[in-house]
Amino acid sequence: MNTAVRNLSIAQAVSAEDFRGAMRHLTGGVSIITAGRGDDISGMTVTSVSSLSVDPPSLIVSINRAASSYQLIKRHGVFGVNILTADQLDVAERFTGKGGLKGADRFAGAEWTTRASGVPLLVGALTAIDCEVEEVIERHSHAIVIGRVLDVVASQRTAALAYWHGEYVAIDREEDQLKLAEVSLPSRHVHARGLR
Ligand SMILES: Cc1cc2nc3c(=O)[nH]c(=O)nc-3n(C[C@H](O)[C@H](O)[C@H](O)COP(=O)(O)O)c2cc1C
Repeated sequence: MNTAVRNLSIAQAVSAEDFRGAMRHLTGGVSIITAGRGDDISGMTVTSVSSLSVDPPSLIVSINRAASSYQLIKRHGVFGVNILTADQLDVAERFTGKGGLKGADRFAGAEWTTRASGVPLLVGALTAIDCEVEEVIERHSHAIVIGRVLDVVASQRTAALAYWHGEYVAIDREEDQLKLAEVSLPSRHVHARGLR
């Protein structure tokens, strides 16, 4: 057992509403988690994907245990992470289950491929990552799913889809180059390039 679980003794001081409000400030890259094989497939829009380790290549995603994709991930032991480009907003919307769309119907209108695991991977995604489940940690309403990366399908796309303050935001490397330079380069470098 290498997991430390503490019984917290501090009384809950922060309401769910306050916490939700706080987390709205965190910008999240938008991805689609895909699960299942053949016709028995589903998927969901998430912002909770994060890299776990590079060696071995692994990632984590936090998934609501009530989501239909969760049972498929547990049953098949594999899943896909499809990091969306800015022009895939419609795909993101479909995979929130908006309008009552379920299972395989969410995949209509986009092109899909497969790699070793057999889960659908979105053609034209910024990057599609094929994963095998390494561990599932169920905690509260959600489960932290650890995925071991089996394959990566990269693209040349340059615009990402993010979610911030309850809205989708496009981050375009070409269009936002000056703005991105301001936040991503050390200030002396920015001054030297005359961007301010
Ligand atoms: C921008 C955005 C990000 C989301 N991120 C997550 C997430 O990280 N984990 C999660 O469990 N649900 C997340 N959801 C909600 C799921 O997309 C939604 O509950 C799921 O598609 C429902 O699937 P089901 O109808 O198949 O159960 C997010 C929704 C949106 C709109």
